[in-house]
Amino acid sequence: MAKAKSQYACTECGATVPKWQGQCPGCAQWNTLVESVLEAATPAAAKRFSGLTAAARLQTLASIAPREEPRQPTGIDEFDRVLGGGLVPGGVVLIGGDPGIGKSTLLLQALGRLAQARLNVLYISGEESGEQVALRSQRLQLDAGGMKLLAEINLEKILTTLAEVKPAVAVIDSIQTLWSDALQSAPGSVAQVRECSAQLTRFAKQSGTSVILVGHVTKDGALAGPRVLEHIVDTVLYFEGDTHSSFRLVRAFKNRFGAVNELGVFAMTDKGLRGVSNPSALFLSQHAQDVAGSCVLVTQEGTRPLLVEIQALVDTAHGNPRRLTVGLEQNRLAMLLAVLHRHGGITCADQDVFVNAVGGVKIAEPAADLAVLLAIVSSLRSRPLPGKLVTFGEVGLAGEIRPAPRGQDRLKEAAKLGFTHAIVPKANAPKQAMAGIEVIAVERVEQALEQMRHW
Ligand code: TYD
Ligand code: MG
Repeated sequence: MAKAKSQYACTECGATVPKWQGQCPGCAQWNTLVESVLEAATPAAAKRFSGLTAAARLQTLASIAPREEPRQPTGIDEFDRVLGGGLVPGGVVLIGGDPGIGKSTLLLQALGRLAQARLNVLYISGEESGEQVALRSQRLQLDAGGMKLLAEINLEKILTTLAEVKPAVAVIDSIQTLWSDALQSAPGSVAQVRECSAQLTRFAKQSGTSVILVGHVTKDGALAGPRVLEHIVDTVLYFEGDTHSSFRLVRAFKNRFGAVNELGVFAMTDKGLRGVSNPSALFLSQHAQDVAGSCVLVTQEGTRPLLVEIQALVDTAHGNPRRLTVGLEQNRLAMLLAVLHRHGGITCADQDVFVNAVGGVKIAEPAADLAVLLAIVSSLRSRPLPGKLVTFGEVGLAGEIRPAPRGQDRLKEAAKLGFTHAIVPKANAPKQAMAGIEVIAVERVEQALEQMRHW
């Protein structure tokens, strides 16, 4: 086969040049030229994406019978939960996460279960040798002798093997190690990653094999990260969590076959990842006495409420005051401090403010605002909040407290875990008193702060 030609295309304006240069001649941006395969030059090139654009006829929506995709559960409940019930034939799943967080472990366990269920599964490892994978599988006590293994990084060879074996599920660990003959750039470059995943996606759609791609994320998510793949694949899952603690979260970021923001919770043990089916109290730390600067938030992750301790530390600044968050949005903290000043009359202008969500969990929902606010005020005044208090609610720029979705579920979960008081947005307050938990409804930031004076 003639070697496919490549060209360099600008990611900003789309201009193409035959050779790499630092600056794009089209839009004068720097470092935007990325290698890609020159298409349509040969019949082979024209065929490359034919699977993605199978001849389709024009039809009306009413004439199409909706078809529920059959799913293949992996048997690992927490993993199936984030997948939306299981793997879909022909679906492509991307699992991203920091190195060492447990991607290979989880996928080996999932394939092991499927192999035990007599499914034809193939594990393609570009990072570890067959012996290493076998050793890990032995350590995980997987009884999966039928699982097929291929240690290979050349895309063309992998595609040939896939076509021969026709597995029901194939895992590629990892996409950054693959390289295609068609491109000159090194494995892991954006061009290689994009080309390899496009080819594997085409294979999945044509053959009905479920393909799971593993992708590494660098700290800043920039360097050839799997971000460029998010558009190509059907499902994007991200591993989160503190590598120092044993808990791992798998979050659905995009899912064409299910709900997003569903969360799978695992604990890393010496026998691999174990699902945690009741994780709501996982992210609370144990304090012997009530401490200042700590406030428990009830957040909603997918279908499950989760209680997370929010910690704040406010301390005299030396020089420029610092605003730092771990697990929460930094800009949102600046906004909350401004609201606190304008509507609560409390200033932190000469203070460093640090805010942390305990346990390495990342909270994106605005309903965390009220908990952050209360934790900051508690730390500033060195006055602990009652230990059995929970809160949630979004804070608006006008000082109003906005309701959060599924308030009743959150309150029920908190009551179940023995919390006795809750500060919630007025619109979330239950119509009838709830057993075991006293609900304090607030409409404005001032009311929430006033409430704190009583403790
Ligand atoms: P791994 O799945 O190799 O990470 P990734 O593929 O995301 O880079 O996970 C590696 C970590 O998990 C490693 O630091 C050791 C730990 N681990 C356990 O604690 N118990 C186990 O049974 C296994 C297999 C790994
Ligand atoms: Mg790995």
